[in-house]
Amino acid sequence: MNIKLLKRAAAVLLTAILCLALASCADSTGGKTMIGIAMPTKSVQRWERDGENIKKGLEDAGYSTMVEFANDDTALQVSQLENMINRGCKAIIVAAIDSVSLSTVLEQAKAKGIYIISYDRLLTDTQNVDFYVTFDNKKVGTEMAQFVSDKLDLPNATGPFNLEISSGPPSDNNAGIIYSGMMEILQQYIDSGKLVIPSGQVTAAETAIDNWELANSQTRMENLLNGFYTDKKINVAICANDTIGRGAANAILAAGYTPGSADYPIITGQDCEIATIQYIIDGKQSMSIFKDTRTLGSRAIEATIALLDGKTPTSNGVSNNKVFDVPTYNCELVAVTKDNYKSVLIDSGYYTEEDLK
Ligand code: GAL
Repeated sequence: MNIKLLKRAAAVLLTAILCLALASCADSTGGKTMIGIAMPTKSVQRWERDGENIKKGLEDAGYSTMVEFANDDTALQVSQLENMINRGCKAIIVAAIDSVSLSTVLEQAKAKGIYIISYDRLLTDTQNVDFYVTFDNKKVGTEMAQFVSDKLDLPNATGPFNLEISSGPPSDNNAGIIYSGMMEILQQYIDSGKLVIPSGQVTAAETAIDNWELANSQTRMENLLNGFYTDKKINVAICANDTIGRGAANAILAAGYTPGSADYPIITGQDCEIATIQYIIDGKQSMSIFKDTRTLGSRAIEATIALLDGKTPTSNGVSNNKVFDVPTYNCELVAVTKDNYKSVLIDSGYYTEEDLK
């Protein structure tokens, strides 16, 4: 065989190998369009359900998926997104841990024409986001504060009542919005002295709980109770979500407060986590906010498919992400207490009776 023939044979062989490799790649996704789903953590119950819902919905619609949870580790979330880009995802649905840390990887995604759907938490400081699906986070804050105001009858009562605030971390864009919603109602009573904050910790930064972690919230509340409440009672622990609420409740219970008694404080939360519904039933937490993640998931799926099909997703508002007004779909939410949890959560099929046992 001469050199020319040998070269040709080698080229044919190489082409054959490449074809086989490509075919096996296509096989791994069944030739389907792949979508990345990047969730922040499993340490808050909702994200696991969000991830599973979106995966199932997209797969039912004929797409293949890659789902990742980043353990609240920003570097890990960046590498998960890089992996989604490298594996050929055509769209990525992402709930950021810290949106600013994603700006470079979002640029890389955009350069490849990948659609970016910001899920629940707004991707800020970037132009590389196509759509945002969320709940009205301001309303999350106002609903919690309104609940406190109604319970204490703040417009008419003389007080003073002792209050402590526990917010989400500033790295999550939602945290500041929820805080501003709370303050829209509470600030006037803090100013008038009807609500007193013995710790003096008021701002979103001072009251932030790192990673929304239950343990961090519990430790902070223990410190507040030991430091500022040796001679007084806490009347309200306004907490930005359920993990923070349960953490505060654990510290309050350990300090000897009895659920159901007149001096047990009002404790708020959001997400209607299964563990929290039990706390609500037992009188350890006063309320939560139900955000139907099935609706949020469906909206995210609908938007993703619309974008892939070259259409404009249905929106009902915009959210400014410091660079532009991102087209947004805001989903409804509802406050949940001992009185309505059954009709809201069980009758809607979100949880079964079994889940709450
Ligand atoms: C927020 C979200 C909440 C809660 C929290 C902790 O961004 O709005 O629903 O889950 O994260 O993960």
